Amino acid sequence: MSDPFANRGNRDASIVNPRPAGTADGTRGSGPVQPGRAGDPFLIGEAMRGGYGKADILNGCTLAVEKGQIAVIVGPNGAGKSTAMKAIFGMLTLREGSVRLDGQDISALNPQDRVRAGMGFVPQVANVFPTMTVEENLEMGAYIRNDDVRATMAQVYDLFPAVADKRRQNAGELSGGQRQQVAVGRALMTQPKLLMLDEPTAGVSPIVMDELFDRIIEIARSGISILMVEQNAKQALDIADVGYVLVQGANRYTGTGAELMADPEVRRTFLGG
Ligand SMILES: Nc1ncnc2c1ncn2[C@@H]1O[C@H](COP(=O)(O)OP(=O)(O)OP(=O)(O)O)[C@@H](O)[C@H]1O
Ligand SMILES: [Mg+2]
Repeated sequence: MSDPFANRGNRDASIVNPRPAGTADGTRGSGPVQPGRAGDPFLIGEAMRGGYGKADILNGCTLAVEKGQIAVIVGPNGAGKSTAMKAIFGMLTLREGSVRLDGQDISALNPQDRVRAGMGFVPQVANVFPTMTVEENLEMGAYIRNDDVRATMAQVYDLFPAVADKRRQNAGELSGGQRQQVAVGRALMTQPKLLMLDEPTAGVSPIVMDELFDRIIEIARSGISILMVEQNAKQALDIADVGYVLVQGANRYTGTGAELMADPEVRRTFLGG
């Protein structure tokens, strides 16, 4: 079987690049948290502008999700979907715009402090430690916690029984779908208020995809907001409360999942008819 974690042509190398260029930066210190704005959605990355050097990849795009809802971002390769996720997570310094979560403006926080503020992020690539066991991956996910993490780990195993059975195996030995489950479970270990998923179903079969989407719905029902990038646009918009079509770092279409699915222009251009 082909390795679903192999480079499948996407150019999102910043997470695994040992010498990242430009303004992608996960090591800077945090600035102060500011108050949010009245009437804000639970999460909003607003009017985001930024990129990896001189050129802007994000050209003023806005992404938001309410509490316990599922927001899905679709768009062509290179549209800036992963870049927008990294900007919301603080891995990319914005030239303009802000990120506000749960009543606070967290634009000045580094990624680690955004995790403390309630964000969980599953990146598109390199999202598990392949030479560590499933259980060690989950323990690593809980790195910011000093309390007892066993109850959270049990919840993750309840959600994903298949990986519970493999808890002593190295994550690298698991199937693509199971590795994605470990990656999601790892992000859940910090008990996030917002779970960000960059193409969680990449490289998995349709059955495994449906199963993972069911689990994502279950996570949202527990009150966690989901912000998800997906290539499987139709299936993802089917479970989305709100959908965003991103093109060249800007919002092209926004609507409920159902509205976007019903829009002939969106269907023709982005959903293959
Ligand atoms: N670390 C980086 N350094 C420089 N340019 C980058 C970096 N990561 C991405 N880019 C460029 O930014 C643009 C947007 O890339 P991004 O990965 O955000 O797109 P995407 O919408 O997630 O695409 P895909 O569907 O392939 O995952 C592309 O032109 C890409 O080449
Ligand atoms: Mg991407």
